[in-house]
Amino acid sequence: MSQVGLLSGICLIVGTMIGSGIFISPKAVLEGTGAVGPCLCVWAACGVLATMGALCYAELGTMIMKSGGEYPYLMEGFGPLLAYLYSWSTIVVLKPSSFAIIALSCAEYASTPFYPGCTPPQVVTKCLAAACILIITVINCLSVKLAYRVQNFFTVAKLLIIVIIVVSGIVLLAQGNTQNLKDPFAGATTSFGAIGLAFYNGLWAYDGWNQLNFITEELKNPYRNLPLAIIIGIPLVIVCYIFVNIAYFSVMTPTELLQSPAVAVVSVHYSHTFAFICNHLADAIIQSNLHIFKITNIKIIPVLVVIVSCYLVLAPIIEKPEWEYLYCTMFIVGGLLLYVPFIYYKFNWTRCIMRPLTMHLQLLLEVIPPEKTE
Ligand code: ARG
Repeated sequence: MSQVGLLSGICLIVGTMIGSGIFISPKAVLEGTGAVGPCLCVWAACGVLATMGALCYAELGTMIMKSGGEYPYLMEGFGPLLAYLYSWSTIVVLKPSSFAIIALSCAEYASTPFYPGCTPPQVVTKCLAAACILIITVINCLSVKLAYRVQNFFTVAKLLIIVIIVVSGIVLLAQGNTQNLKDPFAGATTSFGAIGLAFYNGLWAYDGWNQLNFITEELKNPYRNLPLAIIIGIPLVIVCYIFVNIAYFSVMTPTELLQSPAVAVVSVHYSHTFAFICNHLADAIIQSNLHIFKITNIKIIPVLVVIVSCYLVLAPIIEKPEWEYLYCTMFIVGGLLLYVPFIYYKFNWTRCIMRPLTMHLQLLLEVIPPEKTE
């Protein structure tokens, strides 16, 4: 069922990537880097990293033509255990926490105008965020077509807002408001851990670059369209993000930006960290797998991505070890508690639980297992 063309592919990448991040991360990236110059460098570097990762994924996506993103790649490369642990962490924590971050940022920004001069009460933001998730769920249950329309509407709306911010920034800069961009490296941090954390926040804004790999089977002419959508979509987002940040600095000093009442970065910090620890582990494993397959001519790209991924996972842990990192790892490994009886040994009692559950879910969600192909 090839339905998704090049333009829809680009929209899917751009629409997924541009989200809460460009509105909540600038503050955290600046906090981690300490000055305008390194802050913009981190935004650019995150974009380059996302592009390199996506290029590796394009190769993987055209080589292992299965939908499902990382899951089939881990399955092919390392077998069912790692693929399972990936799905386990993604379904139980990563996806829900990324929905929570997005919904909470949306709710916080939507309610702020009604509480001038103070932050909206937590209960209001949380209820609003829950309502957002509920509405989106209902829309998706009602009709896929309606869901695509809503997605397209919001993609256009987000791009429009970005264009407005960027154009206003360019106008202000042209009028001479460049004082915040002078001496851009004064006060820069040298702490590796802080820069690592700045990367986590920047990369959150770029997250979603691998979205097309989840629907490779639905892509028209994937050999052409998968790499092309990546090469067009991600640079577009990089340009938008850098210009949005420059626009912020054309109206605010770095200190004002740090004091601005943006979404509570601290509350999402651990979800970010957790997401990234799980995701860069997965990425590092997948990238190193590229060598096993010997599929890429430009080996430097996967090598670089592996090195940077390792740095990003290790730097904050080494610089400032916190219990949360241990909990994350324990949670990932904890998936084994279900894997061993349900998947590895497939005890009879587990089948008695799983069979009716699978059948009911298949009926409820109207899905059937794909036909087995050689
Ligand atoms: N980059 C997006 C944002 O800034 C988050 C994307 C979440 N990931 C995903 N696969 N939907 O909000």
